[in-house]
Amino acid sequence: MIGADYMPRANGFLLTIEGVDAVGKKTQSRLLNSRFKLKHLKIKLLAFPDYTTPIGREIKAFLAGNRNHPPELIHMLFAANRWEKCGELRRLLGEGNTIIVNRYTESNLVYGKANGLSLEWLANLENGLPRSDLVIVLDAPPTFLASRRSVNKDVYEADLRLQERVRKTYRELARKFRWVIIDATGDMETVHRRILKAVSAEIPRLD
Ligand code: TMP
Repeated sequence: MIGADYMPRANGFLLTIEGVDAVGKKTQSRLLNSRFKLKHLKIKLLAFPDYTTPIGREIKAFLAGNRNHPPELIHMLFAANRWEKCGELRRLLGEGNTIIVNRYTESNLVYGKANGLSLEWLANLENGLPRSDLVIVLDAPPTFLASRRSVNKDVYEADLRLQERVRKTYRELARKFRWVIIDATGDMETVHRRILKAVSAEIPRLD
């Protein structure tokens, strides 16, 4: 249903790392990035939201609690933030890079749905962007993660009930869209090995 008309591309690969806040996406994306480099594969590491763009700065203000945007607007901004970077994504994929992206379209489907918006409406906002080739969802109970970031929580991180709905929605949409769920409750190395196994199934040269 998403992006039936997405741009065809040469030989790049878009690898998306997803999951609830503080589950370890950044650490695991970096470990994976190092593994690609070790194997001399063309790799780029990106993250959304990109807070450096004009729209990214507006998102940052919202997450800091300085805006009162309705959910429709904030989820439009998250999608627009990807459209700001669409040219770069297409170029990198066209050049044959694998892009590891810490959060992408799938975050908006999940958080938007958990905020009461319709999946179809959310998917339309993303329609035409490069699609993820593989989505890894790091899964752990938000209560287990709550202590990981005790200060400077943003408005979504501070809302434990939202985090619970988000986790449930990740699991629901993972079944629907064949995203790969990885148990993220182990130590860093264990989780890395689990991810590597799943990614190597798609990119054998990584093994
Ligand atoms: P971050 O903590 O990974 O920088 O992301 C900030 C929050 O934004 C996080 O709670 C998830 C949410 N989010 C969306 O709701 N939609 C999106 O498209 C993205 C990229 C993030």
